[in-house]
Amino acid sequence: MEEANRMKRLPRYLFTIIDDLKKEAMVRGMEIIDLGMGNPDQPTPAHIVNELCKRAKDSENHRYSRSIDKVECELRKAIAEWYQKKFEVELDPESEVLPLIGSKEGIAHISLAFLNSDDVALVPNPAYPVHFNGVLIAGGILHNLPIDEKNKFLPDFDSIPEKILKKSKMMFLSYPNNPTTAVATESFFKKAISFCKENNIILVHDLAYSDIAFDGYRAPSILEYSDSKEVAVEFHSLSKSYSMAGWRIGFAVGNAKILRSLAKTKGYIDFGLFKPIQYAAIQALTGPQDCLIELVEMYEKRRNFMVTALNKIGWEVPKPKATFYLWARIPDKYSALTSMEFVSLLIREVGVVLSPGTGFGEYGEGFVRFALVENEDRLREAVNRIQKVLEMEV
Ligand SMILES: Cc1ncc(COP(=O)(O)O)c(C=O)c1O
Repeated sequence: MEEANRMKRLPRYLFTIIDDLKKEAMVRGMEIIDLGMGNPDQPTPAHIVNELCKRAKDSENHRYSRSIDKVECELRKAIAEWYQKKFEVELDPESEVLPLIGSKEGIAHISLAFLNSDDVALVPNPAYPVHFNGVLIAGGILHNLPIDEKNKFLPDFDSIPEKILKKSKMMFLSYPNNPTTAVATESFFKKAISFCKENNIILVHDLAYSDIAFDGYRAPSILEYSDSKEVAVEFHSLSKSYSMAGWRIGFAVGNAKILRSLAKTKGYIDFGLFKPIQYAAIQALTGPQDCLIELVEMYEKRRNFMVTALNKIGWEVPKPKATFYLWARIPDKYSALTSMEFVSLLIREVGVVLSPGTGFGEYGEGFVRFALVENEDRLREAVNRIQKVLEMEV
């Protein structure tokens, strides 16, 4: 019953460790405030849910879905139009758009589609875990690109050893960034594109937080920059923008040849998306967008509240321009603890769940991530409880 070696290479999944700690605390009667997982707390807007319900009643929609089906063609067209409107990027709906069962699914499978055992994937560290875990599952070689405050959480391509560069086949980037909340400049994106072109590297950009941006900041698509389509694909998610995390729908766009290989890989594994979900996604992308404006305002308010409240209790936390996270250095008083030890302490003592920085890779050590997925009253309560831990005798 021994697991495959590729599975043994994986670190234990962060959220399963946290779940165990939560369970222990709940057994002791602790009431939990969960700011761990980036799991949106808002309901999916009603017009999207209504479309799902309506389409679910049609038994024709209960069958396997195929990429040539009318609904998938319409969804691809809706995605291409959304891209044109949002980023002024033109996409061919047939060859440059690929619907996914959540962007995580596509990100995992793109490594499987391209990496041989002697191919290197360049992955910033810390990162959203499937960026590196997908590489390990596919049996590729993982090369970390450390990102930290000194380099504004942007990887330094010049630091990659020549030997590694020769074997590099893919690079993962994601801005606005989870977990660090960093955003990237136009010059960084342009540099990344020319670096990948020069070195024949597939550039994977994960833009899951394109809509969750504050203070007038607009998160660009990498496809806005010239030559990007020669090397790049970009992943999107409806999970955050339309609070559809449980529905499992996302998409990839960009280089047609790369997407064809990803579609081929998926074709051996899945049967596409439940058709009513595809209809609902079309509603999300083409329907009224006030729900999105309201959602962003709500996250912005939570961000403002939380940063101010944490600063007030002596925990200085930077104010992010995008994402619904805060990326915070462990307070001085507890700097001798690892991020996992600090997170365990908070769960054990006061039932507040954060994510340890090392859940996103070893270079996340020294940090914790707050996901702002509870309402303001609960956030206030979380800060009060955290204050108790900061004032505890140690
Ligand atoms: C950077 C990033 N990419 C992808 C995902 C996964 O999104 P989806 O629900 O579309 O699989 C997440 C979810 O938290 C994320 O943070």
